[in-house]
Amino acid sequence: MAVYSRIAGTGSGLPEKILTNKDLEQFVETSDEWIASRTGIRQRHVAAEGETTCDLAERAARAAMEAAGVTAAELDMIVVGTTTPDLIFPSTACLLQHRLGANGCAAFDVNAACSGFIYALSVADNFIRAGNAKTVLVVGAETLTRMLDWSDRNTCVLFGDGAGAVVLKADTEAGILSTHLHADGGKKELLYNPVGVSVGFKPEEKNAGVRVLMTGNEVFKHAVKALDAVVDETLEANGLQKSDLDWLIPHQANLRIIEATAKRLDMPMDRVIVTVHKHGNTSSGSVPLALDEAVRSGKIQRGQLLLLEAFGGGFTWGSALIRY
Ligand code: ACO
Repeated sequence: MAVYSRIAGTGSGLPEKILTNKDLEQFVETSDEWIASRTGIRQRHVAAEGETTCDLAERAARAAMEAAGVTAAELDMIVVGTTTPDLIFPSTACLLQHRLGANGCAAFDVNAACSGFIYALSVADNFIRAGNAKTVLVVGAETLTRMLDWSDRNTCVLFGDGAGAVVLKADTEAGILSTHLHADGGKKELLYNPVGVSVGFKPEEKNAGVRVLMTGNEVFKHAVKALDAVVDETLEANGLQKSDLDWLIPHQANLRIIEATAKRLDMPMDRVIVTVHKHGNTSSGSVPLALDEAVRSGKIQRGQLLLLEAFGGGFTWGSALIRY
């Protein structure tokens, strides 16, 4: 009998501190009007000094485990999508495992920038389908504001911190119907952070530093095209029509990108989960945060068909089709 992964519970972890667009007007030449009209963002949560990705991941994980009625001892695996780990190593997943008291189970991070949660979900789903895990904690967690240049208005207005989590359980009923992952490593220059362990943290490269470098309008075009293709691919792989979908839960980078994908799917915006105005772009945190909010608000009901998608640095992009 086929085995599927079902979402048994969801959770969120957001820092308390909120930075509004008005606050950002103090640091850079920008305006609430520019940010809101170009991106849809009104505010973002920002980690306090000393607050880490693992702190946010832990909050989201505990909420998801409580919702699922799952204890740490039941976890077979922890997968954390993040591009802003607490440390270079151990992985944030290992730090989280210890805090939860889930010692012994497999734990690792997946770095796929903003697609990190979709990648992590796909890895977990494949372990469950193969019969190698029954209960998996999947987290998307980031403190992206830690690598922003607060004097660069092209990037610092876009990002926020946060984490979302789901507990997946093996079930004979679907569940995650399919996941679709893609990457194009040839577009590095359009969106990247130029430093690292192996190239060094102070390379001679112009404009170097621990910070996000992005050619926003180019990324925008690639994101819309890639997301159009992956939503078509997902529906086709499952023999479904656009009209079969109940909810679109997109990566929350830019409201205009979200609207373009919704248009491609002929979906009215009242069937699209939007949190970008409150959270900004939380990278791997964005999709599970939006999912958790929609589940807890009662919008998403059991049995409904959900399409999750994301696009990010790498480039990476992907989707998941889920019978909730
Ligand atoms: N405030 C005021 N003006 C600004 C700001 C700002 N914060 N930022 C840029 N501008 C200016 C630019 O300097 C430019 O001025 P110029 O015309 O005098 O040169 C003008 O606004 C227009 O700039 P564009 O880049 O063409 O603006 P665009 O409409 O493309 O919006 C944005 C920029 C919001 C960055 C958009 O391109 C975008 O959202 N891109 C995609 C981001 C994304 O999806 N990233 C993927 C995930 S991130 C990850 O993986 C880590």
